[in-house]
Amino acid sequence: MLFRSHPKAIIPHAFYGLKSHPALMGALDQLADNMTVSRGFFAGDNLITFNKSLGFLNDQALMQAFQRHATLPPERGALWRLATLAWAARTALRVEGDFVECGCYKGVSARIISEVVGFADLPRHYYLYDLFQHDETMPHHSMLEHSETLVDQVRERFADMSNVTITQGRVPDSLAQAKPDKIAFMHLDLNNAEAEVGALEVLFDRISPGGVLILDDFGWTGYHAQQVAEVAWMAERGYHILELPTGQGMVIK
Ligand SMILES: C[S@@+](CC[C@H](N)C(=O)[O-])C[C@H]1O[C@@H](n2cnc3c(N)ncnc32)[C@H](O)[C@@H]1O
Repeated sequence: MLFRSHPKAIIPHAFYGLKSHPALMGALDQLADNMTVSRGFFAGDNLITFNKSLGFLNDQALMQAFQRHATLPPERGALWRLATLAWAARTALRVEGDFVECGCYKGVSARIISEVVGFADLPRHYYLYDLFQHDETMPHHSMLEHSETLVDQVRERFADMSNVTITQGRVPDSLAQAKPDKIAFMHLDLNNAEAEVGALEVLFDRISPGGVLILDDFGWTGYHAQQVAEVAWMAERGYHILELPTGQGMVIK
């Protein structure tokens, strides 16, 4: 079940940059009490809406995979981001090519997408890349579950899917070890401008016309350097990135 702190609200949690979490919860209660129609109130992942349809809550494939694999507050908070990814993955099935995620971490979003589209049975390949661990020489910040064994845990998560390749190493260098010729769906989530632009340099030309690119960190102020670099990179090639309220960026090739 989604966590509900208020009878009118869907609150999957995880907010960032707050001075006081209880103060936000109080403000959300006030907002809910002030709504004339008590529908469509969502608050999570720094996104607050009301009187919106929230149609993704009725997406059974998404919600079942979400309940199975999104267990921690940041994963549950990212529900709307996952709904974007589910849309992108389904849309990408209209064109030729494989799926890619640069920065898969625990493999949560890739696993959810895989289940939403029944990827295990598709004649396509899913390429996942990450460092999986952190040391002081690495330019990205460490994450809670980075460890020497994380790559094995991710391999275990995808053990039932023979069409998934997991490559450990630094993007873009690690793309030399394994990469698709044609891409239908690409998710960049590296929290690092240089690495993401490096991935675009190698992979963007391989995205099929109509393929979908989602840039996870694009609209978050903490990763503004990525927005600056990616807007400029895309502009040189005649593309514009749509900034979504979830903080994601989207390009249809
Ligand atoms: C926010 S996490 C990704 C979360 C994941 N996409 C999900 O939705 O579950 C960012 C990941 O990017 C990885 N990363 C950062 N820079 C990298 C690089 N240059 N090469 C490979 N992985 C990198 C980190 O190790 C980290 O696991």
